[in-house]
Amino acid sequence: MKIKDFGVEMWMNEYEDYCKWNLAETCVKSFVVKELIELTGEPQEKVMQDILNLHLTYGAILGSEKLRKGIVDLYKTAEIDNVITTHGAIGANHLVLTSLVEPGDKVISVLPTYQQMYSIPESVGADVSILQLRQENGFLPDLKELSSLAEGGVKLICINNPNNPTGALMDEDFLKEIVKIAEKAGAYILADEVYRGLNHEGEPFMTSIFDLYDKGISTGSMSKTFSLAGLRTGWICGPLEVMDVVSKHRDYNTISCGMIDDYLAALALDHKDKIVERNLKIVRDNKKMLIEWVANEPKISFVEPAAGTTAFLKYDLDMKSEEFCAKLLKETGVLLVPGAAMHMEGYVRIGYANDPVIIAEGLKRISAFVASL
Ligand SMILES: Cc1ncc(COP(=O)(O)O)c(C=O)c1O
Repeated sequence: MKIKDFGVEMWMNEYEDYCKWNLAETCVKSFVVKELIELTGEPQEKVMQDILNLHLTYGAILGSEKLRKGIVDLYKTAEIDNVITTHGAIGANHLVLTSLVEPGDKVISVLPTYQQMYSIPESVGADVSILQLRQENGFLPDLKELSSLAEGGVKLICINNPNNPTGALMDEDFLKEIVKIAEKAGAYILADEVYRGLNHEGEPFMTSIFDLYDKGISTGSMSKTFSLAGLRTGWICGPLEVMDVVSKHRDYNTISCGMIDDYLAALALDHKDKIVERNLKIVRDNKKMLIEWVANEPKISFVEPAAGTTAFLKYDLDMKSEEFCAKLLKETGVLLVPGAAMHMEGYVRIGYANDPVIIAEGLKRISAFVASL
C-alpha cells in the first residue's frame, strides 16, 4: 500500500534524539514514573506490589474495566462499550480511518493537522478534500467552505481540536455548526482530541465531539495532557456501530494493549485533576514566556494559542522552513519543526510545554540565530 511520507514524524525520527534544546516536543513535560506516583499520593510500595503481582497474560482485550471507566469519565455521555484502548492516539486514528474509509469515499480533512487525517484516507483511495486553516481566521475552519466541500454527501470529516500545530480551539458553539454540516452530509466526524484537557482558560476539557453528535468519534491518549507518552496508551470513544467495526479491525492489529501501561494509565486517570493542574501551570507559564518573546521578535508573528502545547510561528525571512530549522539546529542545538513537514511553508511549529528551562534557553538561542541571518 503506497502512502506519503509522514512529514513531522520523519523529522522527529531524524533529529529528536540529537538536539540539545527540544522545542519540537508536543507533550507537557513528561513524568518519571516515581514522580507520577508521588503526585497521585498512592503509596509507592502498593503500586510496586500491584505491578510485581500482575499476571502478564494478554489481559482484558479491550482495555481493563478500570481504565475504560477512567476514560468514560472524560466524556459526558459515554458508556463503557463506547470505549476501547489503542496504541496511542496514533493507533486510535489509524484504526478509525482504516476501519471506516473505503476507496472512492469522500473525506474532508482540515490542514494543518496531524498528517494521518488526510494521508491515510488518500492511501486507501478515498477522494480527499482539504479544508485549509488560515491565520487570518485564527486557524479556525471556514464554515462556508466546509459546507460547500460537503455538498453531495461525505463519508467522514476529520478535525483536530485543540489543533496541532496552531493551538486553535473550537468551542461548543463552533463545533455545533460543524455538526450541522456533517448531519446534512451524512458524515461521521473524527475529532483527534489528543490535546483535550489543556484549554488555557476556563474549563480545561472542552466539549467532546462524542458528546455533541451521534456520529461523532473522539480519539485521545495519555501522551500530551497527561504527560505519559511512554505508556503508548490511547483510546477511541465512538458510537456503538463504529466501535463494532473498529473492534473487528483491531483484532487484526492489536489483540490488546500492555497490562503495565494499562495499570499506570488507569492510576493516572484516577488522579487526573492533579495532573491537569500541574500541566496547565507549566503550559500557562511557558506560554507567557512565548508571548513576550514573540512581541520582541519583529520577524515573527503568531496567533496566540488558546489550548494545547504548540504554536505556529510565521517568520518573515526569505528562507524555506526546512532550511531554517536545519540551520537553527546545527548552529544552536534548538529543534523546531518546519511548516513544510505539515504542508505549510513559511511557518515553524514550536512546542512550548517542555521544561521551562529548555524553553527559556531555546527562545534565547532562536533570537540570536534570527538576528544573525
Ligand atoms: C494531533 C495528534 N494526534 C495524535 C498524536 C499521536 O499521539 P500518541 O502519542 O498518543 O500516539 C499526536 C502526536 O504528536 C498529535 O499531535
